[in-house]
Amino acid sequence: MEHGGNVGWRLVVHLAARIHDHDRRTVFQSLRPCARGCHQPAATKVRPVSLLEIRDLHVTYHSSRGTVPAVRGVTLSLEPGQTIGVAGESGCGKSTLAQAILRLLHPSTELTGEIVLRGEDVLSMRWGRLRAVRWTGASIVFQGAMHVLNPAHRIGQQIAEPILLHEKVSGGEADRRVLELLDQVGLPSWRAENHPHELSGGQLQRVMIAMALACNPELIIADEATTALDVMVQAQVLRLLARLVRDRNVGMIMISHDLSVLSDNCDRVAVMYAGKVVEMGAAHDVFADPRHPYTEALASAFPVVGDRQARGRPRGLAGDPPDPSDLPTGCTFHPRCPIAVEPCRTTEPPLLTLNHAQGDQRDSSCLVAQAGDPIRPAPATEPTRVTELEECAP
Ligand SMILES: Nc1ncnc2c1ncn2[C@@H]1O[C@H](COP(=O)(O)OP(=O)(O)OP(=O)(O)O)[C@@H](O)[C@H]1O
Ligand code: SF4
Ligand SMILES: [Mg+2]
Repeated sequence: MEHGGNVGWRLVVHLAARIHDHDRRTVFQSLRPCARGCHQPAATKVRPVSLLEIRDLHVTYHSSRGTVPAVRGVTLSLEPGQTIGVAGESGCGKSTLAQAILRLLHPSTELTGEIVLRGEDVLSMRWGRLRAVRWTGASIVFQGAMHVLNPAHRIGQQIAEPILLHEKVSGGEADRRVLELLDQVGLPSWRAENHPHELSGGQLQRVMIAMALACNPELIIADEATTALDVMVQAQVLRLLARLVRDRNVGMIMISHDLSVLSDNCDRVAVMYAGKVVEMGAAHDVFADPRHPYTEALASAFPVVGDRQARGRPRGLAGDPPDPSDLPTGCTFHPRCPIAVEPCRTTEPPLLTLNHAQGDQRDSSCLVAQAGDPIRPAPATEPTRVTELEECAP
């Protein structure tokens, strides 16, 4: 008579053969030997492998001016069909984080921690596997599309390159895919014959997105993909990205210094300062009700339509972000923080989940917020609403 455990084992093998590779890994990881030595599914619930898990990531550049700790202990995760925004001022480590995910940094750069893409540890990946994962597993829309494309090659050639490199397809098939991709990003097929200088900034950004999609990656990292564009084109490109996430069920990391753009287009937002995530939570909540003074400053930099006071006096943040090679002690934000208290000078606060009243999961690394105190003083008066007539007055 057949051992019940073997039946269970065969059933799992049968099911595993019918599911996708990455899910298969999850099922097999959940198997453990039973007391009699056979294998059977563990009683524990199968936990699906996240699309991306970054744990305690540190990235340190070693340059002629010394050691630059650009990313200092970032932890975040992403599921398929989700968009996470990464916000922060210039130099806070956003692009370094993006490039670390695919190990696109100079070999002298030190990376520690874990980057797990569909269950595979990127930091210990062999070179050949890493090359395969770039474009097919994850791809990047680089900051500054105008400078990334080769000026001497036609657009179509440049989009076809990763397809020909990663997939065994004929030139004709690659050309057909190029036209399909151009159509998906809203560009006419004849643009394939153009050189980069014949396209506008918004069109080049679309070409970069087409390239990022060329090998059907599961993760797309958009590093300031819309920053150089006017608001109309920016809105078009953002709509395009949102549609691609929805239709293809990809995960997206959207990097921007513009918190309002991230709030409108992402599920979650991580706000970075001096190489660390200082606040993370549901995108709209982080923007509307910040729980870290730095996020509050970023959010207040955008005037509220109809608020006369905000219109006349947009709030900024004094000072500059710190040099990563010479960080302040304690909370790195303390020299600029309007509500800093004495312990902030000496104690570096960890990122902790707050007991938030609305019940949303919110992480903050502010000592004041962690103590449950407000991080912004209540406004003295309610904002004055400006009537439509007043708004139109000269
Ligand atoms: N190759 C490098 N060698 C040494 N330091 C570097 C290198 N690349 C970046 N840095 C430093 O690392 C820090 C983070 O840079 P990064 O480009 O990640 O910032 P960012 O948040 O993307 O800024 P921006 O919004 O301007 O693009 C900065 O202080 C930068 O000067
Ligand atoms: S820990 Fe202190 S310095 Fe840092 S953000 Fe909070 S109040 Fe400001
Ligand atoms: Mg950058």
